[in-house]
Amino acid sequence: MICLDPFCVAIWLSAEELSKIDPANVNMQIRDGAALRASLVLSLTEKTEEKNCHLLLLKVEKAKCHQYNPVSHFVLFYYLLRNKTSKYKERETISALYSYPRNVIVVSYKDDTYFNIFPMDIQGYIPGSDLYLLGLRTTNITLEKILNTKKLVVCDTDTIDVKTIYSLGKHLSAAPPKVEELPFKTINSELFGFPVPDLIGSYHEIEIIRHQKMGYHMLLVGRIVNTTKLKTDTASLYHIGYLEYKKSSYREAFQDVY
Ligand SMILES: Cc1cc2nc3c(=O)[nH]c(=O)nc-3n(C[C@H](O)[C@H](O)[C@H](O)COP(=O)(O)O)c2cc1C
Repeated sequence: MICLDPFCVAIWLSAEELSKIDPANVNMQIRDGAALRASLVLSLTEKTEEKNCHLLLLKVEKAKCHQYNPVSHFVLFYYLLRNKTSKYKERETISALYSYPRNVIVVSYKDDTYFNIFPMDIQGYIPGSDLYLLGLRTTNITLEKILNTKKLVVCDTDTIDVKTIYSLGKHLSAAPPKVEELPFKTINSELFGFPVPDLIGSYHEIEIIRHQKMGYHMLLVGRIVNTTKLKTDTASLYHIGYLEYKKSSYREAFQDVY
């Protein structure tokens, strides 16, 4: 997932994998073993070649969750998960896209006059290359600054607790807290000198090589210029949809965060 409005995904494939599909007609299935969890119909908007991979950007045309029978499914989406800000189809699309556990990361950005640190889960590392994709809201004031300097640091969430992650997500980018006001100690990243939490296991320093407005989110394509591992055996928080959580054996990391 790379944008929420419109719903878009990015798929990266090797030349061999690409030769086996028709990129113009992609049906994507998310499975847990043999169990089908979600299916999506996607339409191609762009195909580019990056280092060692073909990157497809696709719009979600249809999405369906398969965790529950049709009656429970309808009751869940129409009544129980109802909210003022989304329509039935949007709720189902988000739920389908969050049937796949989404790794939560922390992004740090700093320049001479500004510092911000915030969580993201619309992101992905492209294995086998040194590329990293991020979908950042166009309302986030840090975005313009990142595009000016083309630098950011991506950290794992290793031993950072969920309340802290949500507190970082609640700060407005217009007035983020100062480094000394953060609820954890920081160390400076090796290359850029951006503050990163001392609770993390590793971080990537990234240079943005391309960006593209998808809608509500800007797609940032970055190249990893340095990776620093501070610990071994690290863990991470993941974000998953309610339906998938109910049908899975994932452990809940918290309760009553709000
Ligand atoms: C768990 C979690 C994941 C998030 N993931 C993203 C993300 O992938 N992209 C994004 O733009 N904002 C994400 N946010 C929100 C940002 O952390 C940040 O609060 C927001 O971009 C600030 O924008 P604003 O200043 O326009 O309010 C996430 C927040 C939380 C708590």
